Amino acid sequence: MLLDLGDGLRIRPWRRDDLDALLRHANNPKIAGNLRDQFPHPYTRRDGIDYLNYVRAMDVPMSLAVEYEIEAIGGIGFKLGVDIARLSVEMGYWLAEPYWGRGLTTRAVIAAADWAFGNYGVVRIFAIAFSHNVASMRVLEKAGFEREGLLRRSAIKNGLVLDQVMYSKVR
Ligand SMILES: CC(C)(COP(=O)(O)OP(=O)(O)OC[C@H]1O[C@@H](n2cnc3c(N)ncnc32)[C@H](O)[C@@H]1OP(=O)(O)O)[C@@H](O)C(=O)NCCC(=O)NCCS
Repeated sequence: MLLDLGDGLRIRPWRRDDLDALLRHANNPKIAGNLRDQFPHPYTRRDGIDYLNYVRAMDVPMSLAVEYEIEAIGGIGFKLGVDIARLSVEMGYWLAEPYWGRGLTTRAVIAAADWAFGNYGVVRIFAIAFSHNVASMRVLEKAGFEREGLLRRSAIKNGLVLDQVMYSKVR
């Protein structure tokens, strides 16, 4: 798959040769601090190799690279629901800090969500942000997601119990 969003922005599967860019951009506590603990900090070479091996082995791509100009600068991942939630998919994303504030993630999330509806055959895409993550909530709002509610004290991150906000887009 390849989504060409124009102006050098693309979404595509991760490749083995993304390792250097992945290590350079992912090793950032401001990124890991807003994601699940499965996104480690520090982000070691071993983490990068394991991650690329894991996502490249998937039959159906669930984890995609955001490429800008010459290299991967972020990721968008999906997790399909099971059982009665099987028509829902959760979306998560991150972007390398030097590229923040240019609207790139918003464009990527819009395109990836459109693609996910068709590709996974789901009727709901949701994303959950820590309630202090204003930039991510703004991305979701700009991308047409609706805020559904506050999940009180629903996460623990770096030793702090946090509220999260649930956003979704449905079809
Ligand atoms: C969240 C993240 C993906 C945003 O990426 P980005 O490319 O900078 O996003 P965009 O440029 O498309 O949009 C960001 C918006 O948030 C706004 N914003 C950023 N920081 C803000 C702040 N502290 N207060 C208010 N608004 C803020 C920007 O102004 C922009 O909105 P605007 O276009 O109305 O001005 C990026 O910061 C990131 O990777 N963070 C760490 C990982 C993360 O939080 N992932 C999401 C987990 S739910």
